[in-house]
Amino acid sequence: MITGVGSYLPINKCSNKNLSNFVDTSDEWISKRSGIKNRHFVTDNEKTSDMSFFAANKAIENAGISKNDVDLIILATTTPDNTFPSTATLVQKKLNINAVSFDIQAVCAGFVFALSVAKSMMSEGNFKNCLVIGADSMSKLLDWKDRTTSVLFGDGAGAVILQKFENTGCKYDDWGILSNIIHSDGQFYDLLKTNGGVSTNQKVGFIEMEGKEVFKHAVDKLSSSLEEALIASNKKIDELDCLVPHQANQRIILAVADKLKIDVSKVISTVKNHGNTSAASIPLALENAINSNKILNGNLIGLHAIGGGLSWGASIIRIGKPKNL
Ligand code: UT7
Repeated sequence: MITGVGSYLPINKCSNKNLSNFVDTSDEWISKRSGIKNRHFVTDNEKTSDMSFFAANKAIENAGISKNDVDLIILATTTPDNTFPSTATLVQKKLNINAVSFDIQAVCAGFVFALSVAKSMMSEGNFKNCLVIGADSMSKLLDWKDRTTSVLFGDGAGAVILQKFENTGCKYDDWGILSNIIHSDGQFYDLLKTNGGVSTNQKVGFIEMEGKEVFKHAVDKLSSSLEEALIASNKKIDELDCLVPHQANQRIILAVADKLKIDVSKVISTVKNHGNTSAASIPLALENAINSNKILNGNLIGLHAIGGGLSWGASIIRIGKPKNL
C-alpha cells in the first residue's frame, strides 16, 4: 500500500518571462503550446541525490514510519549524480540506513516502471517498506539554443513509501497497487534522446526531441496503457476518483482526458508550476493533489507516463491504507 508521499522543488524558480531573457521564446508561446508557466532549476551545488533526499524524508515522515524501517530504495532517474554508483546508494548513505538500493532508467516513465519493480520485489521477496523515488535534474541536459525543448523541462523530485502488511488476519486485496502495465518500443529510440552518452562519446549530451511525433505517441499510448491497467484491475474509468498523468504538456493531458472520456475535474494538472520534471512528475503531482485534498485516503486513482525509449505505462492504485491498520 502507498502510505506516504513527499516531494521537493528547488528554490530557484524560473518563469517563462525569465526564460525569455536567454532563450528565443515568449510567455505567450510556451503557455499556449504547453500550459507551462514556471519551472525550477537546481542551484549551483544541488544534485539529484539532494532533491531525492528531501523528498524521501518527507515521504517517510508522511507514512509515519522510521527511516530504519525502509529496506528497499528504488530511484528512477535519467540524471544521476555520477555515471556510477547508483544515486539510490547515495540517498541510502544520506539517510544513514541499511536498504537494498539501485536506480532504474525509463526516463519520464521511470516512476511507473519503479512502482512495477517495487511491487514485484515486495510480492516475491522479503521487503516490507520500499522507498520509491522519481528525481531528475533535466536542466543539465538542456541546450538553451534549442528553444523547442529547453522551454519544456524543469528539475524536481518526488517519493512514495510502499508498505507490505502481513499477518493482519485480514485481506486487503483492494488496496495498494492493483495493476501495473509497462511497455517499451526501441523502434522509436530516436524520437526523444540525448545526442551523447558515456559509451558513444563520453558525454551526457543534450535532449533532442521530435515534438510532434512524441505528442501523437503520448496521446495514444497514455490512453491505451491506462485502459489496459483498468482491465487488469477489473475497474472501469468511471470508478476512478482521480487520474494523475505525467506532467509534460497541458494539451496532451486534455487530449488524453478527452480520449478516455474522463471528466477533466478528476484529472490532476500541475504542469504549469514545474514543467516536465521527467521521473519526478507523477509523485510531484500526487503530493500536490493529496495536500490540496483532491485525493483522499482510500481513493481509487490512475497514473500514467511516457518517455524516451519509447517507454510507457500505467497503474491503478487504491491510495493510502485502511483506518484499522
Ligand atoms: O515526457 C514526454 C516528453 N515530451 C512531450 O510530451 C512533448 C511532446 N510534444 C509537445 O509537447 C509539442 O510538440 C511541443 C510543445 C514540443 C511543440 O508544440 P508544436 O505545436 O508541435 O509546435 P512546433 O514544434 O510545430 O512549432 C511551431 C512553431 C514553429 O515555428 P514555424 O515553423 O511555424 O514558424 C517553431 O519554430 O513554433 C516555433 N517554436 C517556438 N516559438 C517560440 C518552437 N519552439 C518555440 C519556442 N518559442 N520555445
